[in-house]
Amino acid sequence: MTDRRDFLKTSAATAALLALGTAGTTRAGEQPTFSGIVYTRANPGQWAKKVASHAPQVTIDKGRVTIVTRHPMSPAHYIVRHTLVLADGTVVGGTTFSPTDRPESTYTLPAGYSGRLYATSFCNRHDFWLTETSV
Ligand SMILES: [Fe+2]
Repeated sequence: MTDRRDFLKTSAATAALLALGTAGTTRAGEQPTFSGIVYTRANPGQWAKKVASHAPQVTIDKGRVTIVTRHPMSPAHYIVRHTLVLADGTVVGGTTFSPTDRPESTYTLPAGYSGRLYATSFCNRHDFWLTETSV
């Protein structure tokens, strides 16, 4: 399980770096690109046919953020974890799933928060996915 723990630490750190824009090449207002490392709807790379089942879907209602990954769950292939990160790199929360769980998680934003949000979802076969949104 050490590998899984290391991955979880790395994924949270990656999400925080994305939020801070400290990695990758960007111009003002552009999302960093991490081709082959972080996949998005706009940049699915090798997983272009996997967007619908891997890009996290985000809904926001009165300060509550729900992340859903529309992905089947089985012991051999499942969503391992979600995280939600604020624009300043603050990790609002994370949820680790087992293969019998539904890949859905809910987080409460800090009171009055407005700005960018980064939702991540990791599939054990199809890597690390990111959806950026704002509230
Ligand atoms: Fe997958």
